[in-house]
Amino acid sequence: MEILITTLSLLALLTTAILIGTRGRPKRFFSAFGESMHAVWANRAPLTWVALSVLLVLGFLFFFYASPATRAGAAQPIPFSHQLHAGVKAIDCRFCHPYVERSLHPGLPPVEKCLYCHNHIIANHPEIRKEHNYFNTNTPTPWVKVFYVPEHVLFNHQRHIKQEIACEACHGEVKKTDRLKGTRFQMGFCIECHRQRQVNLDCWLACHS
Ligand code: HEC
Ligand code: HEC
Ligand code: HEC
Ligand code: HEC
Repeated sequence: MEILITTLSLLALLTTAILIGTRGRPKRFFSAFGESMHAVWANRAPLTWVALSVLLVLGFLFFFYASPATRAGAAQPIPFSHQLHAGVKAIDCRFCHPYVERSLHPGLPPVEKCLYCHNHIIANHPEIRKEHNYFNTNTPTPWVKVFYVPEHVLFNHQRHIKQEIACEACHGEVKKTDRLKGTRFQMGFCIECHRQRQVNLDCWLACHS
């Protein structure tokens, strides 16, 4: 119904525009339209090249920025890499996220944690100087949160980790990622695993506050 009304109104607008634009002689519009189509056809070769190049550039931009392989999450105040720290240097997740089992808010590491190593390792690296700045001015590092559940969902890590569900089951290949991708967990994701493992599916008691 809405589509019909929209189409009719657009047609009425177009007709009025043509009538006004051709001062009441609509035939002029159609002959002019025919002529410009002619001109387009006559220039089809260069126009095709332009269209192809535009497509090529758009395609490149898409694969570079939007394809799942390269899509990165929000920029962080310090370009911290899990791939380097948790992967290559094999630092335990718990060293930086120690409250993950105990608290509703495992939180992100305070800058003291970073300086524990970086007071000695590459201490003069420009990004590490930023850490010293945060430390000296007593500012918490403004890390950008990347994993979300909708507001009315209460998520608790504890029960999950006790069941030996790997961090990767929910957070993906953290150890292979430089910049964590933003993820908003949908209910289907939680339900699917709960169903498989025959966990409580009583939505209101279990997850929704
Ligand atoms: C069953 C899925 C699941 C598993 C397993 C899991 N997480 Fe999470 N994690 C989540 C969800 C969902 C959130 C978002 C919670 C929120 O916004 O309240 C989250 C958030 C976080 C946060 C951010 C917390 C904050 O305060 O902003 C950290 C850090 C984290 N997880 C670390 C870990 C680590 C380390 C492990 C493994 C030891 C792990 N998670 C295992 C689902 C999981
Ligand atoms: C257990 C030790 C340790 C901790 C803790 C640690 N790092 Fe590192 N970090 C390293 C090592 C080792 C390197 C590699 C140094 C090198 O390239 O020689 C590194 C490198 C870096 C680099 C440079 C990466 C590059 O591109 O060259 C940055 C930035 C960085 N860390 C940020 C942080 C931040 C932010 C924290 C705190 C959340 C932190 N680190 C905590 C050990 C640590
Ligand atoms: C050297 C410290 C360090 C280690 C080790 C580390 N992390 Fe982190 N983690 C951070 C910092 C700093 C952030 C915030 C910046 C970011 O999101 O990249 C973070 C963010 C996260 C987040 C995103 C939380 C949110 O919603 O913003 C998750 C999930 C997470 N880490 C999981 C892990 C897991 C799983 C491991 C082990 C495989 C791990 N981390 C090891 C320092 C660390
Ligand atoms: C990879 C599997 C998996 C995923 C994904 C998962 N869960 Fe769970 N969840 C479990 C298991 C297994 C238990 C049972 C733990 C136990 O028996 O103590 C559980 C238990 C729970 C409980 C406690 C239930 C009770 O009986 O009181 C809540 C609440 C919960 N999960 C919420 C969530 C939410 C919210 C999400 C999505 C953000 C989620 N879970 C994603 C496996 C999962």
